[in-house]
Amino acid sequence: MSKFIINKSYKLNGRIEVSGMKNSALPILSACLLIEDNVEISNVPDIKDIEKMFLIMKSLGVKIKKTSSNSFIINAKNINPENIDKQTMKKFRGSILLLGSLLKKFKEVNLPEPGGCIIGNRPIDNHLEALKKLGVKLEEGRGEYKFKAENLVGNEIVIPDFSVTGTENTIIAAVMAEGKTLIKLAACEPHVYDLCSFLNKCGAKIKFGESCHIIEIEGVKKLHGTSYKIIPDQIEAGTYLVLGAITRGEILVDNLNPDHLDSFICRAKQMGVKLKINENSILVKDNPNLKAIREIKTYPYPGFPTDLQSPIGVLATQCLGTTIIHDSIYEGRMGYINELIKMGASAIIADPHRSIISGITKLYGTEINSLDLRAGAAVILAGIIAEGQTIIHNAEIIDRGYEKIENKLKKIGVDIKKIDD
Ligand code: EPZ
Repeated sequence: MSKFIINKSYKLNGRIEVSGMKNSALPILSACLLIEDNVEISNVPDIKDIEKMFLIMKSLGVKIKKTSSNSFIINAKNINPENIDKQTMKKFRGSILLLGSLLKKFKEVNLPEPGGCIIGNRPIDNHLEALKKLGVKLEEGRGEYKFKAENLVGNEIVIPDFSVTGTENTIIAAVMAEGKTLIKLAACEPHVYDLCSFLNKCGAKIKFGESCHIIEIEGVKKLHGTSYKIIPDQIEAGTYLVLGAITRGEILVDNLNPDHLDSFICRAKQMGVKLKINENSILVKDNPNLKAIREIKTYPYPGFPTDLQSPIGVLATQCLGTTIIHDSIYEGRMGYINELIKMGASAIIADPHRSIISGITKLYGTEINSLDLRAGAAVILAGIIAEGQTIIHNAEIIDRGYEKIENKLKKIGVDIKKIDD
């Protein structure tokens, strides 16, 4: 267990480099199981969730050679599900992404029910219904699923909740299925595109229909190796842009793709945040005239991302006026509001999906918890502007998705350190 200790830090100046996207690296690493040649993946974030994915892949017999801190050569030629690391799978929600590739490789797979987590129930019915449409037979045991797939056959599939990993699992299972697959109501996050671009580079035949929510796949017999660079993490980028908006100073958030942040940029500008948008970076300056907008509501991409809901909630505490924060995606992602209230925020949780935040409020350092990955990052932002010292427990939760966050923050002047509890 570890914690962050943060003292109020103003006048932050400098450059923060965005790492590769966690939620793109995970499905792409899973898809590597389909390929028997070497695959070189670069811009892989150095975070705990990737470590867990590698643990599970190695338990299958995948060879993983580190060529730099963020690049790896993966070879899945000789893999076997017998000794799959079920303990790690149970603790790691991202392991659900192995389903599609394991079912293509092996006719029978038994997997533990993936952990839910604090942000919500996180069912997997979208995944299961899609796989059944591709010919997968399923037996649900106590906390375990037994999957059988003699061979996967293309079909027309609807993903009713625009599930991101549900879409990604379906793409991975369909890319070498017999015949054509049409996925409707597909999620179209940048990381879903990234997975398709990676697979097409390996010889897959995936294209997008008349809308980004329609994906057409023609199954191929074999995929070949390639080298591929993961897209930048737009959620990490947005988190640091909020930091620039609430502190006095100037931060260049570098190595990002502004096109992946349209909804966030729109809302931030409506709140009075000054952003200078460059090709691969955004300069954010402090702005003393932040003002509340009526409501920020999360949606499937290209709408406002649920993973930036808690960071923008911290921004709302520094805006003049009242903001409704509405997370339409998850029913358990408002817990950070109670942590902000402990710090002096004027806010209430109206229901499991909505909170009301009034600003401008001064925040005061205290001991708080990281509830989920994104809520943890949000309370770090709050700690940086709070009077006095803030201690944030469960720092390892934040390390799941933010590469070396304390190093990146120290470089721009934040007084932060991580210590083991
Ligand atoms: C992915 O989770 C991300 N994780 C999440 O990021 C992200 O918050 C989420 O997409 C939404 O953008 C990864 O990519 C590894 P969903 P996922 O399936 O795929 C409901 C982070 O912090 N649903 O798109 O699990 C579900 O309850 C994490 O990096 C079903 O009802 O999310 C939710 O309300 C947190 N049935 C909504 O759909 C299903 O079978 C969206 O969930 C699947 C989902």
